[in-house]
Parts: sequence; structure tokens; C-alpha cells
Amino acid sequence: MSTFPSPAHRAASPRQASYISTKTGQFAYFDSQLGRPDWSGRRVLDFGGNVGTFLEESAGRVQPSLYWCVDVLRTAIEEGRRRTPRAHWIFYDRYNPQFNPGGVPGLELPDLETRFDYILAYSVFTHTPDDETVELVRALRSLLTDDGVLAFTFLDPDWAPRDKGHESNVRWRLNSRSLGKAPEPRPVPARLDAVVEHAREALWCAVVDHTLVFDARGPVGPCGRYDVLWSPDHARSLFPAAEVRPPVAPERQHCCLIGPKD
Ligand SMILES: C[S@@+](CC[C@H](N)C(=O)[O-])C[C@H]1O[C@@H](n2cnc3c(N)ncnc32)[C@H](O)[C@@H]1O
Repeated sequence: MSTFPSPAHRAASPRQASYISTKTGQFAYFDSQLGRPDWSGRRVLDFGGNVGTFLEESAGRVQPSLYWCVDVLRTAIEEGRRRTPRAHWIFYDRYNPQFNPGGVPGLELPDLETRFDYILAYSVFTHTPDDETVELVRALRSLLTDDGVLAFTFLDPDWAPRDKGHESNVRWRLNSRSLGKAPEPRPVPARLDAVVEHAREALWCAVVDHTLVFDARGPVGPCGRYDVLWSPDHARSLFPAAEVRPPVAPERQHCCLIGPKD
């Protein structure tokens, strides 16, 4: 378990970031990646589900009483509960450099006292270090039913939408401003081109605020933005039994599908 950031470091950090996701399209995305399953009667865990847009967009195909959302953002969990009280909303006070800098490093998953047919994580492991992702995926997989599926997304740095003029994922993340903050200075274009070129060949890289990092491993200190990007080969090396699927339009994220015994 990580001992960084230290308790003193965490005490000096804001307890919680505030972020209510306005992203849409999560239900259509997983419905497509999973081959349009019959969701009725299926238990769904939306890991890092924020306010539960997935549930709202399912328009009744997923029953609120069979939907669980676990997230490290207390405000999002409270807002989700306010919107759909019949669903299960669980605040998970685990440290995350971007979303929960005051949380507890390495905190174990809460006991959810059930198994799930589908465990979904949209753009969650795009914000956690690799060792944490591997640990969490292992813990989540153990919560699947015998024929359950865990599906989570990742961002390939080199992938770009087909439409002409669209930027690659790594350039998109570098150009994006930190959540909830005023725009910050951007890297100068010549430098940006050089790092983007490097990222196209990297197996792994991370955008930490507006800096692209290629070799960092281990604990990450609190920051305004922490975006991890993986090549599909890197995803396969971390999860050899996973099925790796390309994005479905209009999304930018690849999908890893893993069964309970993979
Ligand atoms: C980019 S947002 C995506 C939210 C949601 N899945 C959506 O598509 O709207 C990432 C979410 O992951 C959550 N998160 C980050 N680390 C987490 C962890 N270790 N466990 C659970 N949730 C986490 C964040 O709090 C945040 O709500």
C-alpha cells in the first residue's frame, strides 16, 4: 500500500475536488461495446460513476434498485442520490490525485454485499496510476457473477477521430484545462509538437496538469489534472486475457472487457 502522500501532505491539500460530470453517452457506449445485452434484471456496478449519467440515460432499461454507483467524490454521490434515491450510492474515500486529494491512499473497496452482472468504469482508470488500476480491476473482477463482465475504458494517446482536423487523444488531453479551474498557460506549440510525437510511440504516458510524463511510476501527488494514456499494447500487457475494443463513435475511449476468470 502506498504511504504517499503523507498524512501531513494530505492535510494541506483540499479535502475534495468538486466535479459533477456533464459527460453524456455512457449508456450508449457500454450498450454497444457489450453487444446490446438485455439489461433487465441485471445488477450493474458503475465504478467511478459520478452522478450516474449511465443510469439516467438507460431510460429504465437498468432498474435503479439494481444499480450501484461507487465514487471517491462525495458531492457527486450526494447529487446522484438526490436525483435517483432508489439506486445505491456509495462514497469511497480513497485517495485520488485529481478527484480526492484528501482521501485515504490504498483504501480497500467497500463491501457491497452482492455480485454484479456488469461492472462498468467509464473514464475512471484514465485517472489512476497503473499499479492502482491493476489492483482495483482484480478486486472488481472478484465481484462479478459467473458470467459477469467488467468493462472499462482507456485512452490511446495516438488515437484520433476519423473526421479531418480532429486532434489525437494526447493532444486533446494536453489542451484541456484543469477541471474546475481557470485556463492555465499552455505549452508552446513547438514543444507541444515534439512531446506529442514522442507520445505517439509511447506505451504509457500521463498528462499531469499540462506536462506530459513518460517514465513516472508509483505514487502521484495532488494535482489539478492527472490523465493516464495507454497504447492498446500496454492495456494487453497489463490484462493479457482482456478483449480490447476500439472506440465506438462518437467516443474517444477504447474498451477492455474482462470476465470473472480472466
Ligand atoms: C472523468 S470522471 C467520469 C465520471 C463518470 N464515469 C462519467 O462518465 O460521467 C472520473 C470519475 O472517476 C472517479 N474516480 C477516480 N478514482 C476513483 C477510484 N479509485 N474509485 C472510484 N471512483 C474513482 C472520480 O471521482 C470521477 O467521478
